[in-house]
Amino acid sequence: MQASQTVGLHQGLLRRFKALSLHSLAKPLVFVLAMLPFVYLLWSAVFDQLGANPAEALVRSTGDWTLRMLCVVLAVTPLRVLTGNPALARFRRMLGLFVYFYVVLHLLSYSGFDMAFDVTDIAKDIGKRPFILVGFAAFVLLSSLALTSFNRAIKALGAKNWQRLHKAVYLVAGLAVLHFFWMRAGKNDFAEVALYAVILAVLMGWRMWRYLHKNRL
Ligand code: HEM
Repeated sequence: MQASQTVGLHQGLLRRFKALSLHSLAKPLVFVLAMLPFVYLLWSAVFDQLGANPAEALVRSTGDWTLRMLCVVLAVTPLRVLTGNPALARFRRMLGLFVYFYVVLHLLSYSGFDMAFDVTDIAKDIGKRPFILVGFAAFVLLSSLALTSFNRAIKALGAKNWQRLHKAVYLVAGLAVLHFFWMRAGKNDFAEVALYAVILAVLMGWRMWRYLHKNRL
């Protein structure tokens, strides 16, 4: 294939991708895709398919899906810029709210199965186990982002302050990896943690590079 044909194919694919992201069914489709893990977990719980320790399986898989959704939401801007497709920005809020949805499920599974919803025990555990404290700090930050993700909050805060506040998602990513790392440290099992750390480092590194490049530092 000649270079001009490759360029033509590449541009054709990008055009198709743009048209797809503007399609009226694109948002409902992304919604359904993001709900699939939840539906699968619910199905597995109802039909007793969660293995020998269903409670642990639920706490862990909701934690995994929180982290995966966080990676997806942080990939939106690089993908938008690199493909020159501004329409991708319209999926960001929904995907961000899915991060929150999965972290709430994660927190509820932990609070319900591990702690029997005993607030005093949960507070003690947060003070006792550093990895729980770090996860909880990430949850508090995510709550502030979810609560201010609506148009009225953006208006009330002003665009600049809103943007500044929503940069906290980078801190959430750091805390999420630390939470996962700390949890696995006891088991000396870092392969998955390293994978997520590399993905998030690439997504953050791209932003850093872009910032330095824009400001010509
Ligand atoms: C952004 C916030 C959070 C993220 C991204 C996150 C992510 C994760 C991940 C990836 C795991 C490991 C799953 C696995 O082994 O495959 C995990 C485990 C766990 N997380 Fe979180 N988590 C968050 C917040 C929280 C909060 C708020 C709590 C409770 C207060 C919590 C409690 C736990 C517990 C108890 C485990 C399982 C530990 C075990 O089975 O030994 N996490 N979390």
